[in-house]
Amino acid sequence: MTGYPRASTRVLILGGTGEARALASALDDTGIDVISSLAGRVQNPRLPVGPVRIGGFGGPEGLRKWLLDNEIRAVVDATHPFAATITRNAARATEDAGIPLLRLRREPWSPGTADRWIRVPDLPSAAAEVARRGTRVLLTTGRQDVGVFADIDTAWFLIRVVDPPTAALPPNHALLRSRGPYDHASESALLRDNDIDLLVTKNSGGALTEAKLSAAADLGIDVVMVDRPAEPDSTAVSDVGAAREWLERLLD
Ligand SMILES: NC(=O)c1ccc[n+]([C@@H]2O[C@H](COP(=O)([O-])OP(=O)(O)OC[C@H]3O[C@@H](n4cnc5c(N)ncnc54)[C@H](OP(=O)(O)O)[C@@H]3O)[C@@H](O)[C@H]2O)c1
Repeated sequence: MTGYPRASTRVLILGGTGEARALASALDDTGIDVISSLAGRVQNPRLPVGPVRIGGFGGPEGLRKWLLDNEIRAVVDATHPFAATITRNAARATEDAGIPLLRLRREPWSPGTADRWIRVPDLPSAAAEVARRGTRVLLTTGRQDVGVFADIDTAWFLIRVVDPPTAALPPNHALLRSRGPYDHASESALLRDNDIDLLVTKNSGGALTEAKLSAAADLGIDVVMVDRPAEPDSTAVSDVGAAREWLERLLD
């Protein structure tokens, strides 16, 4: 890519989330030079304002080299809480390159009194819970994780995805292609109309996809909730305003 802005305040945002896009917008009027990075997973990604590069860096070493070659002053890792590999790579690459790193990570959801959560540590454990208790399942874990459920033939799955999955799928399923945000009324209707008795979700957090949880609670539907993967220790914030302040202080 050519035409990158001047090096002095150049920041890389590792993105693919609403928070990353919001941060790019929030920095638009600050004089901070922002480059956003996307993995290139979805066919028609929502793009942030400003320059965008797309595709992997080639592991932590490739990222370290890219940061140095492009004279990056700071990195904000605003990737999804379940994008564990890029978060690990960002921690290693910035440490090796001596570049400040901020993790921007939205708060996880936490259960209220009406919620019927079965918390599990990872996706294989979620699949085990589904095999044990599901008959009609709404699966919202995302395209990349569908394959984990492929062997379950005792349940019917409504699989909600943005782009069609490429992995093997469970024998009894229907695909529902859609992208949030979702509201309470439409999520309740979806659960009711499809006789769903089990919702499976990762604990992504955030308001855009939260309505399925209150809808499930209202209908007395169990939720298999996959906990977030562990992350390396880092300076972290959970909102875009705090990330902007951190950058402004650093680059002042
Ligand atoms: N996982 C989810 O549930 C989820 C949900 C919504 C959005 N997303 C977004 O989708 C993207 C991919 O997620 P993932 O779970 O597949 O990631 P991942 O498993 O942590 O990363 C796998 C590889 O994809 C590349 N990559 C990931 N994010 C990148 C980024 N923002 N810019 C450039 N390269 C990136 C890296 O390749 P190299 O090693 O070659 O650098 C990384 O090693 C992320 O941007 C994430 O924010 C993920």
